Amino acid sequence: MDAETRVYAVIGNPVRHSLSPTMHNALFKKYSLNAVYVAFEVSRENAREAVEGIRVLGIAGVNVTMPLKEEVARYVELSEDARAIGSVNTIVNSNGKLLGYTTDGIGARRALERFTTLEGANVLILGAGGAGKAIAYELSKVASVVVLNRTVEKAKALEDFGVKGDALTPENLEYYLELADVLINATSVGMNEDRSLVPREMLKPGLVVMDIVYKPLITRLLREAKEKGCTIVDGLWMLVYQGAESFKLWTGIEADVELMRRVALERLG
Ligand code: ATR
Repeated sequence: MDAETRVYAVIGNPVRHSLSPTMHNALFKKYSLNAVYVAFEVSRENAREAVEGIRVLGIAGVNVTMPLKEEVARYVELSEDARAIGSVNTIVNSNGKLLGYTTDGIGARRALERFTTLEGANVLILGAGGAGKAIAYELSKVASVVVLNRTVEKAKALEDFGVKGDALTPENLEYYLELADVLINATSVGMNEDRSLVPREMLKPGLVVMDIVYKPLITRLLREAKEKGCTIVDGLWMLVYQGAESFKLWTGIEADVELMRRVALERLG
């Protein structure tokens, strides 16, 4: 590190367990870039000042995480995708002009495309929170998407993207799962708990099942899906690919996702 070192960061709260510094610093090293990636704990009340800080300090690129993704979108110039979902997870500092992007949806798409073809597929997403929305928006560009959510209004609100929104009930789950090629858990259910929204008997061989949760890496949903002969895609793949998309926006380099996953797994222990 020297006076020329470019600084990158993740802002949000909590950030102390973020895997982003681990993944991006490994990439900077691999590609011999004079850059460092750090974490700044920022509360929602300080979002505006934090964005100003990026500008005045000349921080080269930033990932934005909970609870700032929507708030930060008010203070930067938005890409078409970021505008559509009203959320920013990546900022590019282009000579003082801050450009806001979202790579959550494309991260999920690339992760899935590693294992399956999405063109024309029937995709069922559980959850219409920030993650569900980003994924539904991106996948609706290539696939036929249904979103089920506990709070039905939030699922219905996504119909602007040309997806079908409905309530997360056992009947709807059974009905739409019968038609699905791909199932995605975009809720927090299963995080640090052995619980799944999908009864085991509803999972069928050939289904591709992705979970956005990566703690544990193999959630109950993924474990049961694997037992039933489904293809499984864990949440770390989505995290790695969203990071790779951010890295590409900052450096133009197609990141080594295997390296990112390896160092993230080491960090997770
Ligand atoms: P994120 O940004 O990770 O998507 P979020 O915006 O808080 O987080 O969204 C959490 C999602 O998990 C929501 O879809 C939420 O459903 P509601 O909109 O009805 O709150 C869903 N969720 C959380 N706990 C759930 C549970 N026990 N059963 C069903 N859905 C749940």
